[in-house]
Amino acid sequence: MKNLIIYYSRRGQNYVNGSIKHLDRGNAELITEFIKNAVGADVFEVDTVKPYDTDYMVCIEEAKAELRAKARPELKEYLDDISEYDNIFVVGPNWWGIYPMAMYTQLERLDFTGKTVHYIVTHEGSGLGGVPKTIKNACKGAKIGESLAVHGGSAPSSKEQVENWAEKCI
Ligand SMILES: Cc1cc2nc3c(=O)[nH]c(=O)nc-3n(C[C@H](O)[C@H](O)[C@H](O)COP(=O)(O)O)c2cc1C
Repeated sequence: MKNLIIYYSRRGQNYVNGSIKHLDRGNAELITEFIKNAVGADVFEVDTVKPYDTDYMVCIEEAKAELRAKARPELKEYLDDISEYDNIFVVGPNWWGIYPMAMYTQLERLDFTGKTVHYIVTHEGSGLGGVPKTIKNACKGAKIGESLAVHGGSAPSSKEQVENWAEKCI
């Protein structure tokens, strides 16, 4: 069984437990490492050509405009072939209810036939939000497996929870 993690995570200013903090490593990035350590996996980072503003308040407006426009932002690198993998873990933050648009840019390019997709959403209160629906539409042919919502502020201490979850998935 071969595992792959596709993740998006934003370093820099973020909203944590009611105030704006600087994160050297994003929450979804930390969780990606926990999954990798638990079950072993190749890792692909979704990253946009056009960076989002480092200022949190500006970034949320940029993200809102992209959501409204159903934008599919250009990525620095694309993953085109996942044929060698059995389990795909998708990890990313809740931005206005669903994953950042860039995640969909990547997921919609792939053929998930015969693959199982497990996913984690980091958030500040909205939980999985609309991700269960959008991931099903974006991952063509996939069997959707387990899901987990992790509160961003608790991401650094979620190691055991995430490891147990990942082991259960495979
Ligand atoms: C543009 C933007 C929009 C966000 N929208 C939401 C939201 O609608 N609901 C929520 O619970 N958290 C929201 N958040 C908070 C993030 O989901 C949360 O901080 C998450 O842990 C970030 O993960 P990351 O550090 O891997 O990027 C938003 C954050 C950003 C930057």
